[in-house]
Amino acid sequence: MQLAANAMKFTRDHDAIRVGTADGGSTAAIWVEDTGPGVPPGDAEHVFGRFARTRSDDHSASGAGLGLAIVKAIAEAHGGTAKVTSPPGSGARFEIIIPTARSGGSTT
Ligand SMILES: Nc1ncnc2c1ncn2[C@@H]1O[C@H](COP(=O)(O)OP(=O)(O)OP(=O)(O)O)[C@@H](O)[C@H]1O
Ligand SMILES: [Mg+2]
Repeated sequence: MQLAANAMKFTRDHDAIRVGTADGGSTAAIWVEDTGPGVPPGDAEHVFGRFARTRSDDHSASGAGLGLAIVKAIAEAHGGTAKVTSPPGSGARFEIIIPTARSGGSTT
């Protein structure tokens, strides 16, 4: 929900937002991608930090900069990761990847 809320917040009216899932066998992914302005080069590694914000020019983009830090914490609590890919001019794709039960762990 946080990724979808961000996609709504940081895109413009004509942009597209897509949400999906992927079964990677030993991992499961939930992704949200948009055709908005994307995350500026160099900021991708910072946006998951607490109070990290990159874009103050959007009139509707209010926020504390905590949403992605919480997304990352939840993903990591499940043994997984959260990441963003944002090629310049191609929007942004945020992804949560968590290991599935099939990937090992307790056998009891
Ligand atoms: N889909 C996106 N497109 C472009 N930039 C994004 C996108 N999602 C997040 N960001 C950037 O990452 C920053 C951090 O996002 P995060 O969700 O942590 O904070 P926020 O949305 O600004 O505030 P909060 O979630 O606390 O209300 C945002 O301020 C924005 O600069
Ligand atoms: Mg947010």
